[in-house]
Amino acid sequence: MQTQADPRPAPAAALHSPLGLLAELTHRCPLGCPYCSNPLELDRRTDELDTATWARVFREAAALGVLQVHLSGGEPAARRDLVDIMAAARDAGLYTNLITSGVGVTTKLLGALADAGLDHVQISIQDSEPKSADHIAGYDGAYARKRALAAEVVALKVPLTANIVIHRANIERVDELVAMALEMGATRVEIAHVQYYGWALKNRAALMPTREQVERAVGRVEALRERHHGRIVIDAVVPDYHARFPKPCVGGWGRRSLNVTPSGRVLPCHAAESIPGLEFWSVRDRPLREIWESSPAFNAFRGTAFLPEPCQGCARRDLDFGGCRCQAFALTGDAKATDPVCHLSPHHHVVEELAAFREDGPYVYRRG
Ligand code: SF4
Ligand code: FES
Repeated sequence: MQTQADPRPAPAAALHSPLGLLAELTHRCPLGCPYCSNPLELDRRTDELDTATWARVFREAAALGVLQVHLSGGEPAARRDLVDIMAAARDAGLYTNLITSGVGVTTKLLGALADAGLDHVQISIQDSEPKSADHIAGYDGAYARKRALAAEVVALKVPLTANIVIHRANIERVDELVAMALEMGATRVEIAHVQYYGWALKNRAALMPTREQVERAVGRVEALRERHHGRIVIDAVVPDYHARFPKPCVGGWGRRSLNVTPSGRVLPCHAAESIPGLEFWSVRDRPLREIWESSPAFNAFRGTAFLPEPCQGCARRDLDFGGCRCQAFALTGDAKATDPVCHLSPHHHVVEELAAFREDGPYVYRRG
């Protein structure tokens, strides 16, 4: 809670090294999740970076200080050269994490990835009830395929995380979801509430839980952490719209991480292209270090100097960086505004109104 004014001027942003790189290998995906985090405008297959360019990007990333690469999408297995791409990341000295829907990763492909040294797998699971899971994914048989793949990952002794996105349709099943992750042999489960950017905005009213549901879920997570301490790590992300303070989105804009899109644009976060007027540079044209240090998009919201009041005078300014720029833009039209999730924001009433609005319509599935 902000209590005291802190009139210190915001310091100029120190340039940190990025620690993580999200490699969006493709936007192609067999699933149609209503909360898809890919941008509204998808990169075409013909525009995707080739293997050699990804290998160069990984070498440049390692030289810049990046430790981990998250191989993501869309569905990364849609790339025929996935094993070569992963091996190139390993050769560059990076820790490799495959983030997959589970659909499209064959036994043969997984074996080849494991042989080539894949360090970690994250599988998204939509629900603990197969019918509901397939309905949310918009893909019949997805649940069974994910469970089968999880068993194969564990048999190969590759550490597994279950990624679970929660919303109104599954938030009452936190206990069952954690039990499912344990049964799968996951060492970690990530329970994250839907983030309302991009495609998820189209389904916000259909996905939004009630405040009571959120409070119950938060309580259940605490109890489950205690019960399963030492057996599984439970990471939970509280839903923005029901929080008092915003999250330090991506650890601060241009501070610790970067995303490379399938066609090579380098973004400070996955939703950055939803903010109009930003200029994104591409790995096709420039080395990653130059992009990290000098690209207009990365420098647009680095640090905290651009933040207005109440952030400038707030003791949490250097902890949450005023929240999420993409959310600030989506809800106020100004990417420099205090994230309206913050109860101190003059726009906080917008979040309160949206959080109270629910409608049981059919999902608008993501296709393409
Ligand atoms: Fe303070 Fe701004 Fe963070 Fe709200 S968003 S807690 S006002 S720094
Ligand atoms: Fe872009 Fe939060 S998603 S800054």
